[in-house]
Amino acid sequence: MTIGILKETKKGENRVSISPRIAKQLIDKGFNLIVEDDAGVNSSFNNKYYREVGAQIEQRGVVYKESDVLVKINSFDTEDLKLVNEGQVLISQFYHQSNPELIQAIAAKKVSAFSMDAMPRISRAQEMDVLSSQSNLAGYKAVILGAYLIKRILPLMMTAAGTIKPARVLIYGVGVAGLQAIATAKRLGAIVSATDIRPETKEQTESLGANFISVEGGETAEGGYAKEASEDYARRQKEAVNTELFKADLVITTAMVPGKKSPVLITKDQVEQMKNGAVIIDLGAAQGGNCALSKLNKTIVHKGITIVGTTIAPESVSTHASDLYSKNLFNFLMHLTENNEFKWDLEEEITDGTLIVHKGEIRKT
Ligand code: NAI
Repeated sequence: MTIGILKETKKGENRVSISPRIAKQLIDKGFNLIVEDDAGVNSSFNNKYYREVGAQIEQRGVVYKESDVLVKINSFDTEDLKLVNEGQVLISQFYHQSNPELIQAIAAKKVSAFSMDAMPRISRAQEMDVLSSQSNLAGYKAVILGAYLIKRILPLMMTAAGTIKPARVLIYGVGVAGLQAIATAKRLGAIVSATDIRPETKEQTESLGANFISVEGGETAEGGYAKEASEDYARRQKEAVNTELFKADLVITTAMVPGKKSPVLITKDQVEQMKNGAVIIDLGAAQGGNCALSKLNKTIVHKGITIVGTTIAPESVSTHASDLYSKNLFNFLMHLTENNEFKWDLEEEITDGTLIVHKGEIRKT
């Protein structure tokens, strides 16, 4: 089976779906690999690295023509689909529920499409879960970005010129990104607090040495995700968190509810009561933002508070982000194939959950 690795075309994207390390593992398993010219160049993987492990470098048209399976990180778009051939298998993140027209266009090409973002949240799928591997890096990078932007240092520092108190960091949302943000801020020496609507995150937060701000009445929905908060919960959450919010030097927000807009957890009025010079890194900005003032891909300063609306940026640590994405993809391909052929076991939970289009037929809407 020949796997084609395409160069990402989305603006600002630096990652590549298969790193040279994982390319080697796939080749060792008997797959042929064709990599589009310079596909890995923005992740510090130039063509030479792929050639060294036995992959072939080709221009885009050849990759489309010669591959049985085509892999990308970002969805195939209408331009890509013009080059796709009947019977091919496409693997990327299609976000099928938000893109029904694209899914119809894919089906019309009589191909099959697996969507990495539709991975079921079950234990055995964890090693294939790209949302987790990328969010983890985003949580880390959010703290690094915040530490750079605040006008203080994070750790306690005793010097001959006096003692500096540690900075206070507050994290909203203790999912994959939030947990890594807590761990990173702790490692840098800050005093860290966190809150989440899912009660089980209290223990996870405390196990990292951070303080958990509990709010009565939080619930977990099926699949381990958050339920949308009631108005009453949101009001009580603000009351519980405000004391810490108004003392915080750095706030990282990561709260999401799948398929919904991000909950607004910090209003304009709250921002105006924050400490002068504080910074908010809002990772929920693409879904509307956890802070009412956030603007996607913009940094604004409101009355002395800096608010960074960002999706961060697994692409900003593209070498590791690509390598982890690749390992997820490798595990997924191992799961789906036997003797380098697809098993097409449609009853199996991971295959069933991720196979959006099968041989031209739409399976998931
Ligand atoms: P997410 O990105 O959907 O949300 C981030 C966090 O925001 C969640 O912890 C959520 O509870 C919280 N949140 C939502 N609304 C909130 C509100 N109004 N106030 C405060 N917090 C709010 O979540 P993520 O990171 O995808 O993880 C969700 C869970 O799924 C975690 O327990 C994670 O460990 C689990 N998971 C399991 C996997 C598997 O078993 N294969 C794979 C990935 C995650």
